[in-house]
Amino acid sequence: MLRKLLLPLVMLAAASCANPPTPDAPAALAAAPQAVAAPAAPKPLQISEASFSCIRDLKPVRGFYVGNLLGDIDATLAAANAPNGAKYPPGSVVQLVPGEAMVKHHPGYNAATNDWEFFELDAQPTGTKIRVRGATDVVNQFGGNCLTCHAQAEAKWDMICEQGHGCAPIPVTPVMARAIQNTDPRCPKIELPADQQAALRQLMAFRGAAQPQAQ
Ligand code: HEC
Repeated sequence: MLRKLLLPLVMLAAASCANPPTPDAPAALAAAPQAVAAPAAPKPLQISEASFSCIRDLKPVRGFYVGNLLGDIDATLAAANAPNGAKYPPGSVVQLVPGEAMVKHHPGYNAATNDWEFFELDAQPTGTKIRVRGATDVVNQFGGNCLTCHAQAEAKWDMICEQGHGCAPIPVTPVMARAIQNTDPRCPKIELPADQQAALRQLMAFRGAAQPQAQ
């Protein structure tokens, strides 16, 4: 009986001895190593449907658009325009079409995606809905996994495909992409040049052909 009572007490004493109070060590000294080792981690990036709007309000870079949810658009533009590629800074938003986006989180979000999060979006005149989001398991409307393709880009391009970076091609030509950007239902309407109108018709025919297979 006595042993049963004593044992927890002994353990308790041992536990407190392992971390003895140090009345004579200044508190600041005890706390210092921790403060040096771990600078405050940045607040995780908050991304919601309100983070996305008219694609043409972003900054155009060659065929695509970029933004930065943390306000650091200069750093994002610098990465996008670096002749030999660069790591995009946290907060970067990259879009080729209104329906898809890549957003860069802070380091540590997901090493497998270089900290990118992939989004499939539904752009409506009234706003944006997020259909699917995530790191490794986001699949586009044609059944392709975003990461599988984008990870094929040479490392120096930070998973940005464009053309010639090493990704499998998509059936969207540059003129089609331009036409899709110029008909984003969240943007003011603009007149499409004839080649972009033709590209849209081609795209609709392609979608129509793809539909029965998908069902
Ligand atoms: C079949 C491969 C493939 C799949 C699957 C794919 N992409 Fe892409 N993506 C590309 C290629 C190739 C380009 C470049 C097109 C161009 O510039 O002509 C591209 C362009 C982009 C861009 C513009 C920046 C860049 O990398 O050039 C974004 C953003 C993007 N895709 C997001 C996504 C998202 C989000 C998904 C999933 C919902 C996805 N992609 C699925 C191949 C793919």
